[in-house]
Amino acid sequence: MAVSMKELVDAASVIPVLTVGEVAHAAPLASALKAGGLRVIEMTWRTEAALDVLKAMKAAEPDLIVGMGTIRSPEQAQASIDAGADFLVSPGLSPSLSDFLPDCGIPVLPGVATAGEAMSAIEAGFEVLKFFPAEQAGGLPYLKSLHGPLPDIRFCPTGSITPEKAPDYLALPNVVCVGGSWIATKAMVEAGDWATIKANARRAAAMG
Ligand code: 3PG
Repeated sequence: MAVSMKELVDAASVIPVLTVGEVAHAAPLASALKAGGLRVIEMTWRTEAALDVLKAMKAAEPDLIVGMGTIRSPEQAQASIDAGADFLVSPGLSPSLSDFLPDCGIPVLPGVATAGEAMSAIEAGFEVLKFFPAEQAGGLPYLKSLHGPLPDIRFCPTGSITPEKAPDYLALPNVVCVGGSWIATKAMVEAGDWATIKANARRAAAMG
């Protein structure tokens, strides 16, 4: 049963953005994030193992909502859906992704960084947009400025957001969730530091 966009944003205030190279790390990582109280996670397609990691996470923790990020082509999107992804995230929108993603059957957070890109994405049929790279593209003041002319557009800012800054983003009226790698960095995952990841997840879960 596909997760709806409403279920997705209701379940997530902070979405950990994960880069995992070893399938063996999938199950303990998923379990640590869930044990910390998070319900939504984003695997990124930045390693050759990404599809298998996503499948292994879903198998280990079927209650977790697991998305695939860093989607750059319709082929990657379809392969992720076939692997069981609950939602998709892209760093930006290309013409082929604008055609394919709105009707792909699962929620999508497409990346945008300007007012024009946000307007185009809404026109293409997307509901919630990833504001990326959030800090570098203007951060909190920029999102505040977009809310005036575009009050109906909702964002999930991602990009260099820290646990200290996340609550300020979440307090904005046009922000529904934030994403970040700080909860489970590549180094923490490679070191198998599940205790730190669980503690970070607990702190992130408490923000929502
Ligand atoms: C991304 O690369 O998708 C985001 O920027 C998350 O990573 P960061 O929190 O390390 O910027």
